[in-house]
Amino acid sequence: MAKKSKESVLCFYVFFFIISFNAISVSAENCDATTGIFKHNSPYDNNRRLIVSTLPSNVTAHGGYFNGSIGLGPDRVYAMGKCAPGAEPDVCSHCIKTTSEGLLQICPYQTDAFLWSGNETLCLVRYSNHPFSGLLVMEPHAAISNTGNLTMNQTKFDSVWRNLTFGMIAGTTSSSSGANNSSKYYVYDVAPVPYFSNISALMQCTPDVSSKDCNSCLGTNVIDYENCCRGHLGGVISRPTCFFRWELYPFSGALDKITLRSASPPLPPKETRISGGIIAAIIVVIVVTIILIAVGLNIICKRRKQKQEIDLPTESVQFDLKTIEAATSNFLSATSLDKVGLVRFTRVCS
Ligand SMILES: *[C@@H]1O[C@H](CO)[C@@H](O)[C@H](O)[C@H]1NC(C)=O
Ligand SMILES: *[C@@H]1O[C@H](CO)[C@@H](O)[C@H](O)[C@H]1NC(C)=O
Ligand SMILES: *[C@@H]1O[C@H](CO)[C@@H](O)[C@H](O)[C@H]1NC(C)=O
Ligand SMILES: *[C@@H]1O[C@H](CO)[C@@H](O)[C@H](O)[C@H]1NC(C)=O
Ligand SMILES: *[C@@H]1O[C@H](CO)[C@@H](O)[C@H](O)[C@H]1NC(C)=O
Ligand SMILES: *[C@@H]1O[C@H](CO)[C@@H](O)[C@H](O)[C@H]1NC(C)=O
Ligand SMILES: *[C@@H]1O[C@H](CO)[C@@H](O)[C@H](O)[C@H]1NC(C)=O
Ligand SMILES: *[C@@H]1O[C@H](CO)[C@@H](O)[C@H](O)[C@H]1NC(C)=O
Ligand SMILES: *[C@@H]1O[C@H](CO)[C@@H](O)[C@H](O)[C@H]1NC(C)=O
Repeated sequence: MAKKSKESVLCFYVFFFIISFNAISVSAENCDATTGIFKHNSPYDNNRRLIVSTLPSNVTAHGGYFNGSIGLGPDRVYAMGKCAPGAEPDVCSHCIKTTSEGLLQICPYQTDAFLWSGNETLCLVRYSNHPFSGLLVMEPHAAISNTGNLTMNQTKFDSVWRNLTFGMIAGTTSSSSGANNSSKYYVYDVAPVPYFSNISALMQCTPDVSSKDCNSCLGTNVIDYENCCRGHLGGVISRPTCFFRWELYPFSGALDKITLRSASPPLPPKETRISGGIIAAIIVVIVVTIILIAVGLNIICKRRKQKQEIDLPTESVQFDLKTIEAATSNFLSATSLDKVGLVRFTRVCS
């Protein structure tokens, strides 16, 4: 039994590495080292872990939106946590917790990081070594799009899509100008495309920025989507200050539905779309990953041969997959997870 669980742990690490790899393609855009880097276990790292560990309780204690800082001088960490309006405290807390943990994993040394993510609700975790409250921050940004292609007349589709998205930007920035709480700058809307489907979209800015800045941030997200991904069936564009997602099915701020959908035939798996400069770096990572996986598999297979263990710890492996799915549903980046690849990989492992 102990041997089996050891092997499943090994398997888990191999899988987790794949997820990390998937995360890198996005994390390259969620972590920002331009204002600095830090070492593992440095005072900044410890402050970062501390503030992030208290975020779930502080965010829920403040009605779903909290900003604060811990530490002094160059080791001071400013952080913000936010849940979608109306999120139950336990759901919000869970979202902030898993998103924070994801961020700690994908941004191991960059002083600035942000991640909009969530399973049952949408939430944001963000930290930096400089105060950012009230500032419009556009970079880095992350873009993910559905690889599926639109099957209807693009011109007709665009007229509904643009009317919806530009109408929503106006609605987001005008509706809740007074309140300084989690409800500010949050809009979810649906528009029917005749004889085709319904477009569902969500827009959100952090409550600290001005409505003018919120407007320009969301406007850029919509234009970015059109530039990178027009003709596809959905997508997410996120920046430190704002978030935009649209799909051809209803969702309520939850990103898990992307993962769930990718498992069912109608919608193909998601894919990250990234700028050319990063591709080279990613290719290097892919190659290294594949080598490491091959080495990892070799070890597993050799051990298994040596021990003459014929029966596969199927349950363990299934559990691992579930664990991974649970873990990945909390990453925005995990939406790029190729389930087919994952399943194929399981077979190799067994
Ligand atoms: C807005 O909310 C934040 C987070 O709770 C709080 O720190 C800040 O003091 C509030 N600002 C105003 C003007 O109420
Ligand atoms: C969060 O709350 C804890 C108490 O639960 C407090 O000690 C801590 O300083 C708070 N974090 C921030 C950043 O204010
Ligand atoms: C929190 O946000 C408010 C405004 O939204 C700002 O006045 C305050 O300085 C922020 N606190 C920190 C520690 O950044
Ligand atoms: C979408 O269209 C592009 C180019 O026309 C094609 O390369 C791609 O395979 C298509 N994707 C799907 C999922 O059909
Ligand atoms: C799409 O619809 C527009 C406007 O209705 C029309 O002008 C165009 O010819 C159509 N394109 C195709 C490929 O059918
Ligand atoms: C455009 O959106 C508005 C709401 O923002 C709606 O009332 C109107 O019917 C829409 N027009 C078209 C052509 O879809
Ligand atoms: C935010 O403030 C507005 C206006 O005061 C209020 O209607 C709304 O319920 C508040 N939302 C939350 C989540 O506290
Ligand atoms: C679009 O939404 C309307 C009402 O919200 C619903 O009646 C209709 O069935 C939906 N259409 C599709 C294709 O899902
Ligand atoms: C979503 O979160 C809830 C707890 O809040 C958990 O029970 C559920 O399994 C999660 N779903 C996924 C797909 O991870």
